[in-house]
Amino acid sequence: MLRCGVLVSGRGSNLDALFQAKRRGDLPVEFVLVATDRPGVPAIINARNHGIPVWEASPQDFATREAFFSAMAETLHKAQVELVLLAGFMRILPASFIDRFPAIMNIHPALLPAFPGLHAQRQALEYGVRYTGCTVHFVDPGVDSGPIIAQAVVPILPDDDEDSLSARILIEEHKLYPACVRLYAEGRLQIEGRKVRILAPRESSEGSAGCGT
Ligand code: GAR
Repeated sequence: MLRCGVLVSGRGSNLDALFQAKRRGDLPVEFVLVATDRPGVPAIINARNHGIPVWEASPQDFATREAFFSAMAETLHKAQVELVLLAGFMRILPASFIDRFPAIMNIHPALLPAFPGLHAQRQALEYGVRYTGCTVHFVDPGVDSGPIIAQAVVPILPDDDEDSLSARILIEEHKLYPACVRLYAEGRLQIEGRKVRILAPRESSEGSAGCGT
């Protein structure tokens, strides 16, 4: 089974959606490590309750940002992680970290390339768009700029504020992220430049994890 490591910084509702999908039998992966830059956050408590090994460290405890990410990458490597999932991880990964893994995915609460970075829901409200949503993409060294795997659209309602909009986007995030991880685990994602092609299911149920290029 595909060995996944998840990076989190807070609440961890996306992490929990991934756990639930696995529990339902919808996700042919093994969660082997959950790591955070914010020790003690709810996502980490949830991971512990599921009996999954955790790694918790503050960047402030390291001499440099590079040293922090190097220690995190080392731990993920020791756990033989094949796919890294960012689930509400609020830091930009250095290229030296990204290069060490076959693939890294992220979920972002907007229809990229619109509204990258922090407070994506607030950005959408302030801009006045009628539709926003969420995006799952592969991670490259830019900010929310890697090849897009899938998106879900959420309409903005006249009375929406940041909280109400975020809550409706989150419902879609919780469906979209497990679905994308499953496609990857089944070997059905093919990267062609900036585009990600979703391949038809194989005849045999023996998927081979990963993505072609
Ligand atoms: C989610 O909305 C996720 O899309 C967003 O943070 C939230 C984390 O919630 N991520 C980003 O904004 C990344 N740029 P969660 O901790 O409950 O999964």
